[in-house]
Parts: sequence; structure tokens; C-alpha cells
Amino acid sequence: MKEPALVLGIETSCDETSAAVVGAGTCILSNVIASQEHLHQKYGGVVPEIASRKHLETFIPCVNEALEQAGVSRNDLDAVAVTCGPGLAGALLVGVTGGKALAYGAGLDLIGVNHLEGHIYANFLDGRQADELEFPLVCLVVSGGHTDLILMKGHGQYEVLGRTRDDAAGEAFDKVARLLGLGYPGGPLVDSLAQKGAPGAVTLPRAYLEEGSLDTSFSGLKTAVAHVIREGSVKPEDVAASFQRAVASVLAGKAFMAVERTGARRLALAGGVSANSELRKTILSLGRRLGVPVHIPPARLCTDNAAMVACAGYHGLMRGLRSGWDLNALPNLSLGDTSIYLRTGGQ
Ligand code: KG4
Ligand code: ZN
Repeated sequence: MKEPALVLGIETSCDETSAAVVGAGTCILSNVIASQEHLHQKYGGVVPEIASRKHLETFIPCVNEALEQAGVSRNDLDAVAVTCGPGLAGALLVGVTGGKALAYGAGLDLIGVNHLEGHIYANFLDGRQADELEFPLVCLVVSGGHTDLILMKGHGQYEVLGRTRDDAAGEAFDKVARLLGLGYPGGPLVDSLAQKGAPGAVTLPRAYLEEGSLDTSFSGLKTAVAHVIREGSVKPEDVAASFQRAVASVLAGKAFMAVERTGARRLALAGGVSANSELRKTILSLGRRLGVPVHIPPARLCTDNAAMVACAGYHGLMRGLRSGWDLNALPNLSLGDTSIYLRTGGQ
């Protein structure tokens, strides 16, 4: 099988239009990200209809910019990897339709990528790190829509060990930011405010749930934060730092419990919330203490971007997977769902 040396990645699942050219699954030749943050800010969250319209406007310029920065033309590419779910239906549809048109027009292979798988594969973009990533691997995927603990048994092989029972970690950050009057998206704003605060200033609840559970819950914590803010006796930076510490300690505790329970070799972090400074620090120091090697992508590759999609696509293509021209946007796509691939493509 010919190696898909140059893959164009496309990501439009939420409010970032992104296109990237990645060589051999590890060499990022370009990773253009057009954020719509400013458009959604005044609504305090992503408005799906506005997101899809903006993706439509930005898609072609973004792809052209990615090709130009990489110094390649469409005909130099081997394949197109596009996020096909989960995410916002209209937003996904722009990327999937555009990706299919590009691949069909230039005679390239096409592969649909699960957005969560994309986040996980941000860890494989660094070639040196990718060589070290041994399976089984526990992945903690923490984003705006997901808080999942996943056992990755091999490339493309996933078992969900636990997930949030209410809010996703990123959603909790965004809601706390709103309560603090910080704006959207809240995670980075809470993170920077927390730098000036004391994480031990206020005791907040940590929901570990039933003994041994690998699920998480953040709604009680969010309510407790709302209560503290309403009382008005704690400085906002102390609230931010204490909240961040509570989230990080629960997530780290659960992640290492999963490593111990499964006998996994390593722990990898993925998704927007893994850009959080407190979470990175907590997981790294606990990993050192417990002797568990930890992998975290650089902060700029934790949030939505197309390089991670190209990388996941590359690994799928290397396993012989392809998608057909009937590939569709699948807003509720689960990790490991192989219906996005052509039946004839063997593992
Ligand atoms: O993975 P992502 O870019 O998009 C989704 O797939 O959802 O994650 C976005 C989430 C948002 O909730 C955002 O507030 C959060 O990641 N986030 C952070 C940080 N950077 C982004 N949360 C905490 N600290 C950060 N530094
Ligand atoms: Zn994401």
C-alpha cells in the first residue's frame, strides 16, 4: 500500500474552521485556524446557524491558505481527512461536503475522522512522542462537549471507561466564566484569572461518585461556585483558582485510577481543556510521582485544529481505511463507529 504522504485535514465541527497539510502523519506543514469566537461572544456560546454560515464563507480561503503555507497544490496531496462527527450538524456538513468535493475533484482518497479521535491523535503529531506511545494507553479527552476516559488498545481501538454524567469539563469552565462575567470561551479566561488567585482560598466540592467509578460530574461544583460568587466574599481570582484546582484534582484522580485498573502503560491527555495550566501541572506531577509516563500535546494543538484530524486520518489510511462519497455529517457519531468507512477497506 502506498503511504499517504501528504494529507489535507479539515475541521469544522464547532466554531473553528481549520485546514492543515500534514506530511507522513507527523510533519505539520500548515495548520490554519479561523476562529469564530468574536461572532459568538455576545451570545455567551456558539450559535449553530451563525457557525455554519461562517464556515461556508471561510472554508475555501482556509484551505487555500493551508496549501499556500505548505507550499503544495491540490494535486500534490494524497488524501483528504475530514471531521464527520460528533459536532454541530450544519457546521460538520460544510467540512464534509467541501472535503468530499476537494477529494473527488483532485482524485484523492477520502477518510472521515471522528472529532474525538482527532483530539487523541494530537498526541501522535510529534513523531518522537508517537514512537513512545505504547498501547494500551489511557486517554483523558476533555473538551467543550466531552469528558471521556478511554482505553486505547491499539490504533483505532477504543473502549470507553467513564464519562461525565452531566456537564463536560469545558462546559463547566465556560459556565463558571459566565458566572464570573468573563466572556466566551471561558476556559482560557478562567485559566488566566486563576494565575493571580489562591487555589486553596475556598473549599469546593469534588464529586468522586461511587467508589471506583470512572465517571465524572461537574454540575454540583458549578452550583457551589455560583453560590460562592453570589455571596460575594471571595475574590474572583480566588474563585477561579479554587474551581480550577477542584476540576484538575478530580480529573487527575480518575485518570490515574483508570491507568491502575487497566494496567495501561501510559496516560495521554486530549481536548481543549487539556490546555489548562492547572490540569497539565497536576497530571504531570502525579504521573512523575506514580511513575506513569504522561503525554500532553502542546497547548495550541489541544483545542480544535485540522492537523490533529489529518494525523488521525493518516493512521486510518495506513490501516487501509477509506470513506465513500456518501460520507455524511454525523452529529452524534460515537468513538469507534466504523460505519464511516467503506466496507471494502479492511483493518
Ligand atoms: O476541544 P475544544 O477546542 O472543542 C470541543 O471539541 O469542544 O474544547 C473547547 C473547550 C471550551 O469549553 C474551552 O473553554 C476549553 O476547551 N478550554 C479551556 C482552556 N482552553 C480551552 N478550558 C480550561 N483551560 C484552558 N486553558
Ligand atoms: Zn474539539
